[in-house]
Amino acid sequence: MNKDRYLTFALGKGRLAKKTLELFEKIGITCEEMKDKDTRKLIFVNEEAKMRFFLSKGPDVPTYVEYGAADIGVVGEDTILEENRKIYEVLDLGFGICRMCVCGPPEAEESLKRRELIRVASKYPHIAKDYFYNKRHQTAEIIKLNGSIELAPIVGLSEVIVDIVETGSTLRENGLRVLEEVCPLSARMVVNPVSMKMENERITKLIADLKRELSKEQKA
Ligand code: PRP
Repeated sequence: MNKDRYLTFALGKGRLAKKTLELFEKIGITCEEMKDKDTRKLIFVNEEAKMRFFLSKGPDVPTYVEYGAADIGVVGEDTILEENRKIYEVLDLGFGICRMCVCGPPEAEESLKRRELIRVASKYPHIAKDYFYNKRHQTAEIIKLNGSIELAPIVGLSEVIVDIVETGSTLRENGLRVLEEVCPLSARMVVNPVSMKMENERITKLIADLKRELSKEQKA
């Protein structure tokens, strides 16, 4: 271990990053620079703790971690499953809880039951393909979209979608419903395999501190 080496964290932009920083603060890891909302800086340093943090698009977090540009990443389990990178998943952070589901209009339920050839729109083509081919044993045409997935069955692009459901309000407001659950999801901490060896002491301590804090919160 080199104590002068910075431990670099890649955080998925948005709600997960905010929650992660709140959790880190509770175990004494702060990054004041990051709190300035007007900053255009991309990377933030805590000199004392020898840690660096940067924000990236969620799907890029596993990439930075696999290549070792970040030692540690925090990202949703959905992204980890979709990206399928060579990284270690070390901790369930217990927030960002939602579900990956097959959703659609009520009439799509019949097509699913009959295992008809259907079109499936998703931001997660690998997860969708794995679910339909390997779990449901159903042939499906997977169509990759980049957002507002709920539009697809409404405008007739696909019969169903595979997407994240959190509160369910996007589905409700658009006349869609959950037809099947693919898997539950939450935010995870991931680690580069080489960093895990080289920085084992620091990373193991960080995981232990986070686990302690998370179980304290669960009991409260
Ligand atoms: C996600 C997801 C759903 C919505 C689910 O979209 O893709 O559309 O949130 O949340 P709900 O169940 O609480 O309504 P996001 O807001 O990330 O944007 P996107 O549609 O552009 O992917």
